[in-house]
Amino acid sequence: MALDATDHGAVIAFCHEHGVDLVVIGPEAPLVDGLSDSLRAAGVAVFGPSQAAAQLEGSKGFTKDLCARADIPTAGYVRTSSLEEARAALTRFAAPYVLKADGLAAGKGVVIADTLEAAELALADMFGGAFGAAGAQVVIEEFMAGEEASFFALTDGTHIIPFGSAQDHKRVGDGDTGPNTGGMGAYSPVPVLTAALQARVMAEIIEPTVRTLREDGMPYSGVLYAGLMLTAEGPKLIEYNARFGDPECQVLMMRLESDLAAVMLACAEGRLGEVAVALSDETALTVVMAAEGYPGTPEKGGTIALGDAEAGGAKVFHAGTALKDGALVANGGRVLAVSATGASVTEAQARAYAAVDAIDFQSGFCRRDIGQKEVAREAARERG
Ligand code: AMP
Ligand code: GLY
Repeated sequence: MALDATDHGAVIAFCHEHGVDLVVIGPEAPLVDGLSDSLRAAGVAVFGPSQAAAQLEGSKGFTKDLCARADIPTAGYVRTSSLEEARAALTRFAAPYVLKADGLAAGKGVVIADTLEAAELALADMFGGAFGAAGAQVVIEEFMAGEEASFFALTDGTHIIPFGSAQDHKRVGDGDTGPNTGGMGAYSPVPVLTAALQARVMAEIIEPTVRTLREDGMPYSGVLYAGLMLTAEGPKLIEYNARFGDPECQVLMMRLESDLAAVMLACAEGRLGEVAVALSDETALTVVMAAEGYPGTPEKGGTIALGDAEAGGAKVFHAGTALKDGALVANGGRVLAVSATGASVTEAQARAYAAVDAIDFQSGFCRRDIGQKEVAREAARERG
């Protein structure tokens, strides 16, 4: 049955009718829309932050101000609310210019402009309504150089449990070319985010965030996804997501050894201190198979035969599929996330692509280089 997540009353009625004990809110829009608050008020346990705490994802300016107050390492910034103000502020930065629409923009609200002219054009676009209300404010940031990695932590507002690392591949084409997407593949854990760096991320970024939100009367409950830049000075926060990412979630779930529902319920009930989370030491890697046209308009209805893709222990997560007359067809941009584990990124990558190659999806495509940077580092280490 299809439920409209913007109709909070309908979601509550469904939970009461079907005895739903726990709701896990996956995407950002219903979190920012406060669905969790409505459900909690109706006595339903929820995994996911309140509307107030979800501002961590819903407003770039909110997060930057929190970082400034709590002394969390991140790029220097200014918040602007008019084109004139933003153009004047640009003079305080150097190229490349990083410009961000404040609100949710489906991953498309960030522009990195190489020249002042390009930056001014992008600002005119944003304040001209290219991102709707999300562009009513624009954050201008200092550019950070380094490798990107993501770090995850569960929190009930008080207790915090680290939940591993992942690296996404945002661009549509091999070698990080072409337009940005929601993510074309990922692997976990990320060796460049060493145990020592993870300890710094916890102490310098995650813990002060959780503490500050609690002190501000908006305790964060759910998963915190920290997008990080590993700079020469150490890890710095790029942005927060208020949820497991896609396809980061798939690689984390491949490694999870604990009972997810029990952990999420404990988190929802403020009992995270009573549970432990175990992730296997293996590497997981996922390759997204998208429909031709993505990230533009994807071709719908292409037939898919999974064959024996899962025979070798791989797992195929369905993201944008549907059944049409009993047959599996594409029904979205990112259609499948083909996932495998191994003792190294190299092994997990080989297994994931073997599974991809077992799938017959004529109108689909994928990147062939997910995890390749780490595979190259593994090869270099092998050679000593
Ligand atoms: P965001 O939506 O904030 O994660 O930004 C999208 C992407 O833009 C990030 O994954 C980075 O690749 C890039 N980016 C964002 N902010 C910065 C920054 N201050 N310096 C360099 N790159 C950035
Ligand atoms: N893959 C990035 C995200 O889900 O936001």
